[in-house]
Amino acid sequence: MKIISRFNRKDIKELQVDESIFALQNGYLGVRGNFSEGYNQEDYKQTLINGFYNYYDYSYEENSPAFPQKGQRIINVIDGQSIDIYLDDKAINLENCNLKNLERHFDLEKGITTRKAKYTTKEGQIINIFEERLLSFIQKELLIIKLGISSPNYEGSIKIISRLKLPNKQTIDEHDSRINVSNNNEIHILNKQIETDKAILFSESTTSSLKLRVGMKHNADFKCQISHNGINAEKCYNLTKNRQIEVIKYVAFITDTLDEIAELSVEDSLDKAMLNGYEYYQNQQILYLNDFWNKSDILIEGDDFLNKSVLYNIYQLNSCSVSNEHLSIPAKGLTGEGYEGHYFWDTEIYMIPFFILTNPDKAKNLLMCRYHQFEEGRKIARSHGATQGVKIPWRTINGKEVSPYYPSGSAQYHINSDLAYSIIQYFEYTNDINFIADYGFEILLETARFLYDVGNFFDNKFNINNVTGPDEYTTLVNNNYYTNSMAKYHFNYLVKIYQEHFNKLSKSIKRLSVTKTEIQEFSEAAKKMALPFDENKKIWLQDDSFSQKKPLDFKQLPKENFPLILHYHPLFIYKHQVLKQADTLLSLFLLDYDDLEIYNNSFDYYLPKTTHDSSLSRCIHSIVAFRLGHIDLGYKYLQDIVKIDLENTYNNTHHGLHIANSGGIYLSLIFGILGLRIKDGFILIRPSYIEKLKTISFKFFYQNTEIRFTLGKKIQILVNKPIKLGIYNDMIHINDTYQCDYI
Ligand code: BGC
Repeated sequence: MKIISRFNRKDIKELQVDESIFALQNGYLGVRGNFSEGYNQEDYKQTLINGFYNYYDYSYEENSPAFPQKGQRIINVIDGQSIDIYLDDKAINLENCNLKNLERHFDLEKGITTRKAKYTTKEGQIINIFEERLLSFIQKELLIIKLGISSPNYEGSIKIISRLKLPNKQTIDEHDSRINVSNNNEIHILNKQIETDKAILFSESTTSSLKLRVGMKHNADFKCQISHNGINAEKCYNLTKNRQIEVIKYVAFITDTLDEIAELSVEDSLDKAMLNGYEYYQNQQILYLNDFWNKSDILIEGDDFLNKSVLYNIYQLNSCSVSNEHLSIPAKGLTGEGYEGHYFWDTEIYMIPFFILTNPDKAKNLLMCRYHQFEEGRKIARSHGATQGVKIPWRTINGKEVSPYYPSGSAQYHINSDLAYSIIQYFEYTNDINFIADYGFEILLETARFLYDVGNFFDNKFNINNVTGPDEYTTLVNNNYYTNSMAKYHFNYLVKIYQEHFNKLSKSIKRLSVTKTEIQEFSEAAKKMALPFDENKKIWLQDDSFSQKKPLDFKQLPKENFPLILHYHPLFIYKHQVLKQADTLLSLFLLDYDDLEIYNNSFDYYLPKTTHDSSLSRCIHSIVAFRLGHIDLGYKYLQDIVKIDLENTYNNTHHGLHIANSGGIYLSLIFGILGLRIKDGFILIRPSYIEKLKTISFKFFYQNTEIRFTLGKKIQILVNKPIKLGIYNDMIHINDTYQCDYI
């Protein structure tokens, strides 16, 4: 059974973490796992809509017109979660009652969360609450909350006030730059409309003027009334001992950010929901998830926690996606306001591989989202002084760059090649040449043009200077190995695709005025790409100056001083040999570097210098460890990363889930343990045997062939069409099944 359960986590810190863990999301809408009855009258319930954001002004002591002047921040929209329960005019909640028992479950096959809470009032009345929540995967605007209330020792009147209202004020953590912008007064109400038992709030974001309509309706005749901050729907019930009353609340959130619902009326959406009834949505949810698990199920026998966490993480990752080309995936999905709802390179490098392998259309949508934001990217490129090409924003919602601190933000030029890499992977796994002809080639080209423009030939090398690699603890360096090696791959692939598919690409080639000389230039730059190497140590160097810096024995620093960036001046960090996250090693993994001696040396060199202050780090180290045969270490990292959210090991899960890490867990299984790569048009695997596990089994799609791998004492492969693939060093043909030993 795919169920995540938590018991009696009642402390406010635990409750806030569990708001993220029990957050429901469907790519468009995200509803955190608050209690409908609230913890108290002021608690901060969160509902987020992908692409629904406000602008706010940045202020710099020393401004430059080239800096982003406005930030974007995802908005905590209208609260439709609240259903207050009153007994003798006293609200049943944590403030007024004793919460004796709390039980929560996330059912990953039914797509619902459930919660049982047993409260006792000061007068000794026991009130049991059963809550079930469903955020529809098929009718994306729809949230349904089912609330059951019963008591073994109280009989009498109970009043329910279900609300649509402005969210309460948020208290912010001023010391944490990842969440320190307050999300208050972000939305105002334009109109409140009541039609018998149906209530609708018309609202607008304060600075971006985006419109949101939210409506609610209940399974019984609630009386709606305008309140100072929204609309209340009220009903009194007579509670008799041990008989549960049941309230079902349907809430619809409609904005323009998702084409398929933009034109809907709230009334129609709610009427449809009422007509279909709750059971219908329960069944639809199960059907949707049957299909999802059918395409992407994983079974790990021998470590129950690992298995559950893997399933939970891929479930949440999938729940972040939407079949739409204009929305991407924020760093926290829609499970929290951390990183302000921005899209980062997390999508391309950490999340998209899961979709490429299990549901390529979703991968394509995510890639297309970048394409639709290209015009903004062109402007960013110009603002960075490049006369050609497109620069992908380091962080954004609508395509404009919003990174206010360029050293560890917009200087990460590698994001251009990250996108290119993702396009290439998509193409290699799907063979979708039409996508390449229509869009992919253009994306590869324009992102390469920018990099070519910012680089320069010097000393017979192509140098890309003043950039920051993925490791944000080393900034504005010359020739970052990751950036340059990825650019080299990017340029080379562009040349290859131009040569191999010239006819198919001819329209784009003409439209984009690509000349043979330009292609020659890319080829030359790739050939001469500067890749810093230490001849004595036989390692790839992170950049031109990394080895000149002071080592830092960070293990001697107090534990509470991590992440370092929240406790030290950046310049202190930058002048040391200390990494926040995988950098050079990430490139060696992505590009399947094959000189194992240099690979091993580089691993040994960077490992003790890496703090893993970013949650994007350990998953990569696990993959590299598996690749280099350090199986126990790879497995240890895997065990660490499956705890990041479920055990809150970064101590900030309350800001939202670490969705890049959810993708990273998948990467660790598929590219780490299975050792999947693609080479010369064939897939290649190099499985590692994990003694501690009985079996791991997963499946994915390669150019429409479904391949299932079971790694137990032996390696077993099952395919639905004949395929030729590489296992370690051998190429084999498989008609239907195959079995072999590990090397
Ligand atoms: C990491 C970035 C990442 C961002 C959002 C930062 O802490 O250093 O690589 O893109 O978080 O997840």
